[in-house]
Parts: sequence; structure tokens; C-alpha cells
Amino acid sequence: FFKTEIPEGLRRLPGPKPLPIIGNVLEVGSKPYLSLTAMSKRYGDVFQIQIGMRPVVVLSGSETTRQALIKQGDDFAGRPDLYSFRFINDGKSLAFSTDQAGVWRARRKLAYSALRSFATLEGTTPEYSCVLEEHVCKEGEYLVKQLNTVMRADGSFDPFRHIVVSVANVICGMCFGRRYDHDDQELLSLVNLSDEFGQVVGSGNPADFIPLLQFLPSKTMKRFQDINTRFTAFVQKIVTEHYTTFDKDNIRDITDSLIDHCEDRKLDENSNVQMSDEKIVGIVNDLFGAGFDTISTALSWSVMYLVAYPEIQERLYQEIKDEVGLDRTPLLSDKPKLPFLEAFILEIFRHSSFLPFTIPHCTSRDTSLNGYFIPKDTCVFINQWQINHDPELWKDASTFNPERFLSPDGTELNKLEGEKVMAFGMGKRRCIGEVIARHEVFLFLAIIIQKLQFSAMPGEPLDMTPEYGLTMKNKRCHLRATMRSRDEH
Ligand code: HEM
Repeated sequence: FFKTEIPEGLRRLPGPKPLPIIGNVLEVGSKPYLSLTAMSKRYGDVFQIQIGMRPVVVLSGSETTRQALIKQGDDFAGRPDLYSFRFINDGKSLAFSTDQAGVWRARRKLAYSALRSFATLEGTTPEYSCVLEEHVCKEGEYLVKQLNTVMRADGSFDPFRHIVVSVANVICGMCFGRRYDHDDQELLSLVNLSDEFGQVVGSGNPADFIPLLQFLPSKTMKRFQDINTRFTAFVQKIVTEHYTTFDKDNIRDITDSLIDHCEDRKLDENSNVQMSDEKIVGIVNDLFGAGFDTISTALSWSVMYLVAYPEIQERLYQEIKDEVGLDRTPLLSDKPKLPFLEAFILEIFRHSSFLPFTIPHCTSRDTSLNGYFIPKDTCVFINQWQINHDPELWKDASTFNPERFLSPDGTELNKLEGEKVMAFGMGKRRCIGEVIARHEVFLFLAIIIQKLQFSAMPGEPLDMTPEYGLTMKNKRCHLRATMRSRDEH
């Protein structure tokens, strides 16, 4: 109803003309990563759409995104107040809530240090460099056995269904000091719901922007609220048990270390950021949620690509066979010897761009970018998919080709090229689990490729079309895995 005043010297944001009430919802459609990438070709790296009545700025291009998230990091570090975010972790999520900058910064620091100290803790035996490596090796070996058993019983397996339990067990080990059986119904029913969680919080969900939709009965929204309630109850039960058995002299896991922080803080008269115990201990909820869904999705896509490109699968197996051998489990220290596997992982992140947008950002003050005025409290989408498919940055961007990350003779990883891939965001809101995630994806893949050969079910074509969401999943499907025999080749 009124036009924003544009300060002198700055320009009004370009973008498609919105329709009354719905704005540009129809043009954005069900695959926003494609529609908004197409719009960036027309309107440039910084443009504005309207979802419902609410303006949203969309950022593309590596340089523009770097300028916003790193050089002007404070201006773009907020989170918008979106309807669906209020249901996550009772509105107290570290990643999704609209915490004041000081509170968010203090919580992020705590989360980061708890995560790092429990990942780098010594393993129980000297063969492992750290407890993360120990958890992943044990779960990876267990996953291989599990897939073999399922194959014998059913003749096929659903990759996400089994991978998600192994990955959840690694983060459960660090957060809660426990693991679950692959048939544990409580964990299974929780972790297998993550597809529906991502579909609601993916950038551009109309219900987040059009208040009227929030009052209409919606099955999806009801399910989403139900998932969040169950998720919070699951974690709360474990946290309560931790409070009962807490011993200051024996900090067992991340939950204990957060409880310990609450106790210390009460004694610290200089503590200047006011935070409830709930907000501190609630951090474990974010770590657990972010720690299984993203990595399981990366691994599930990896298995799909192995099946889609059998010659790449064979080359990866040969690399592991030659450099690690078949007599021991691969370790993190094998990384420098496996450049093709590293290149394969980078190409999975780039080509699938399964996190097509970061979590939405929000401007914390009036600002400008590339000469355009952006008012305070504007919701900002960052199009990672566009950066990973930008023809200015990538030759034959739509081709899946891990070799693009190798030196010309194929023996070394080209690190500079790898840094162009955008999967973890950048700047102040950059993912805090990145190092753990990269280690886990590497190790799980090395272990399963060493032991198993994956293929499609005869007569069942592979469907690589992603299902849109915060993390885009492959469609649930059935594949085959056969044990590699030792004297193969
Ligand atoms: C945030 C990617 C694994 C914890 C994010 C963001 C992305 C991302 C794109 C949003 C950045 C932004 O808003 O600009 C990934 C990918 C992963 C992964 C691709 C795996 C392949 C993990 C793991 C953990 C984790 C294993 C923890 C155990 C978090 C947290 C945030 C976050 C807490 C919120 C940070 C904040 O809002 O300040 N991640 N992530 N992530 N990630 Fe990850």
C-alpha cells in the first residue's frame, strides 16, 4: 500500500511484478531452486519477490553472497520470524529462532565448543584417533552387516531407511552417550519422519508468508507440529534422565556438558548474557536434529549416484583397494590417499545441492547490496543451488563429473576448486557441524564402498529427481547391495 523510501544514491530492488494477496507464489512454484535461479538470470544477483504480502530478497552469485554474508555479515545474520519456525524446539531453536544477536552468539559458541570437545575426545582404544572416528567406524561396519542381512531377507533395501539409523546413532553417542538398535521403533519412527519436517521448513513455503493459510486446516502442518512435539518429547525424556544421574566429576556427553554449563553460570557473577537453562540445554535438540538429517541425506544421495554411475563406483572401490587394502577398516588418516573419493563427495554436494537454500536469513538493520536498498527485517533467501550450477563458475555445470576437482593427472585434489562449492552457508551463520559432517560422510562412504557393491533393481529405473525441502531427499526406492569378495579383481 505504500512505497518504501529509497535513500539517495541507492536503487529500488528489481524483480517480477507481484499479484495481489498471493504475490509471486505461482512463479516460484514447487521447485524454487529452479524458478529462482531462472529469475536470477533475468534480474541479477540481488532481486526481490513477494510471497503473499511479504517481500523476500533472493541472493545469488558467489561474489554477491560473499559480500552479504561475510563482508556485511552483521547486517544479514538474523533469522526471520516465520510461522513454521515457531514450532521447532518449542520456538527455542538455535538455528531457527529469532534470538537477539547476543543470545544467539552465546548459544552458538556453546554449541560449537560442546560439539568439538565431544568429537575430538580420545577413542576407547588407540586404533581410533578420536571418539567420532570410533563411532563412525563401528556404525559403518554395523551398517554393512545390516544391509547384508536385509538383502538376504528381502532381496532389496531402501537406502535412507537404514543409513539414517546408523548416522543418528553417531550423533546420539555424542549427544546422549547411547546408541539404538536398527529395529528400535521409537528412534525409527522419529528419524524416518525427517522428510516431512524438511518439506515444511524449506524456503518459500507459502504458509510461512500468507497468514490466511495458517488458519485453514492443513494436514501437512498438523503432521509438522506433531513431528516437532514428538521430537522435543524424545529429547526431553533423555535430558530428564541426565539431570537425575548428573555427576559433575563425570561429564559423559554433550547433554551433561550443557547441564554443567548451567550450574557454572549460576556461580558466575560476571555472566552478562541472560539465558534460561532451557535455552542452554535445548541446544542439544538442534545438534541432534541437524546431526542426523543432513548427513543421512548426503549419504543416501551418494548411494544413488554410485548406482547411477557404476564406472565411478568401480574407480572408487579400486582406489580404496589399492591405497587402504581390504584387510582393515578405512580411517580418517586415509583421506590424503583417497583424492577420488574426496572429489566424488565434493561433486555430490555440488551437483545434488541437496540443501538448495540456506536456512532463511533476515536483515538486522537497513542496508544495501550492489547499490540496491534493503530495509531492516527483510527476509533473505540464499540460493546455494544457483552458485553450484552457475555456468560462470563451472564448466558443464549439469554434468556429474568428480574429476573437475582433481589435478590434470588425476592424482591430487584441487582444493581451490573444492572451496567454490557452497553447501554449508558462509559467514556468521555458517554451519557449525561442517568438520564433523565432512569426516562422517568420508568415513561412512569409504567403509561401505570397500565392502559392498550397489546396483539398481532389474527393470526399475533410477529416479534422481529431488523432492523439494530444506534438505532435498531422493525419492524412497529399493536398491541392491552385494558383498564384495576378497579375491575380486
Ligand atoms: C546450519 C549445512 C551438518 C549443525 C547449517 C546451514 C547449512 C548447513 C546450509 C545454514 C547456514 C545459514 O543459514 O546460512 C549442513 C550440511 C551438513 C550439515 C550440508 C551435512 C552434510 C551439520 C551437523 C551439525 C550441524 C552434523 C551438528 C551436529 C548446524 C547448526 C546450524 C547449521 C546448529 C545453525 C547455525 C546458526 O544458525 O547459527 N548447516 N549442515 N550441521 N548446522 Fe549444518
